[in-house]
Amino acid sequence: MMPSNPKQYYQRFWAGHAGKLHFRAHSHHFWPDISREAQIAYWDECAKLGDDKWDKIFSETIPRTQNHIASILRLADARQIALAPNTHELSTRLLSLFLGRKSLNILTTTNEFHSWRRQFFRLMEIPNITIHQVDANNFPHDRDAFLRAMRTELAKHYDLVYLSQVFFDSGAALTDSEIVSLVAVTPESTLFAIDGYHGFAALPCCLTKLEGKVFYLGGGYKYGQGGEGVGFMVVPKGDWRPAYTGWYAEYAKLSGPTGQTVGYANDAMAFMGSTQDPSGFYRFNAVWDLFNAEGIGIPGIHDYVAGLQKTFLENLPRHFMRNWSLTPLFDPALVWHGHFLTFEASSLDLAERCLQTLNSHDILIDRRGARLRFGFGLYQDKADVMALCQRLQKLVG
Ligand SMILES: Cc1ncc(COP(=O)(O)O)c(C=O)c1O
Repeated sequence: MMPSNPKQYYQRFWAGHAGKLHFRAHSHHFWPDISREAQIAYWDECAKLGDDKWDKIFSETIPRTQNHIASILRLADARQIALAPNTHELSTRLLSLFLGRKSLNILTTTNEFHSWRRQFFRLMEIPNITIHQVDANNFPHDRDAFLRAMRTELAKHYDLVYLSQVFFDSGAALTDSEIVSLVAVTPESTLFAIDGYHGFAALPCCLTKLEGKVFYLGGGYKYGQGGEGVGFMVVPKGDWRPAYTGWYAEYAKLSGPTGQTVGYANDAMAFMGSTQDPSGFYRFNAVWDLFNAEGIGIPGIHDYVAGLQKTFLENLPRHFMRNWSLTPLFDPALVWHGHFLTFEASSLDLAERCLQTLNSHDILIDRRGARLRFGFGLYQDKADVMALCQRLQKLVG
């Protein structure tokens, strides 16, 4: 059961933001205090174990992180979860499966996160790589049109599909059954990758039906609440041999004989890289050990956050959108929406001016292009949301 005051877990971050209204949970979620103890415990373990720490990290720490991720996403096989410092590294490793192919056809959307957009634009400069982007700009207003366009494309032969679960520039989210229906019309030879960064540990999604069929990427920096260093990718079973590879990928075999062929682990470890700072795993484990012990699960977190969003919308000053020329990119019913609410300004310039005004009044939000994002999280309570609405009232007049 969700405790009545989850804000209690975040005292240090609140102390660091005294006087501020921090509504950037979608960008950098506050970390629970227990993660600080985990960080220190990691340091002490390094001092005690030296090089031998890796045995413990691989046999205890990493499996615990994998188990937490599997349980959050309702996956049966935690060993099919690869870890890395960030999702970019894992997605690049995924792309490296295609190295040496005569051609590569990728299907994606116009609204993917910056790293992927950059990566796709760069790949488009290479002969024989084609990238088709389905227009997702209007997804928050007309999801059926987007789904139809995706289905039409998916029926064709693509080598790789890359699609957000929750779009980073609106918070609009695909439901589990919409994703299942898209995967159902995708040829088996196509690799299907979902960028789940804004869904993971926020929406109570269930990947059970998609297990073994899709790659799913996420991390600890946002709603995972463990901070940097916890990128992960759920991997279908297979004999994967990414061309971009490091020693972690055959850790299990390191003491075996070395042959000429490059050996890979036969689970998701095949996608792992090389020496990384594992302190993020310690922080992440401590947070989700605590939440498990306190009975805090994703459905409870989501309900709590949806409650904050509802309070926000009910108390938003009447002229907020009209006076600042903002259009909401969400359905007010918020039936299945990410943990941030986005308002589109009529120009980039106006969006920047709104952001500066808010920031200078200690309302911390962010923007992507002309879209202003207000993020909600477990570290806030209704009083914070009411204070936000009151401050907005003063600004809007
Ligand atoms: C949709 C989405 N994907 C991925 C990421 C993070 O990617 P990485 O782990 O490569 O830094 C973010 C971070 O803001 C994001 O919004």
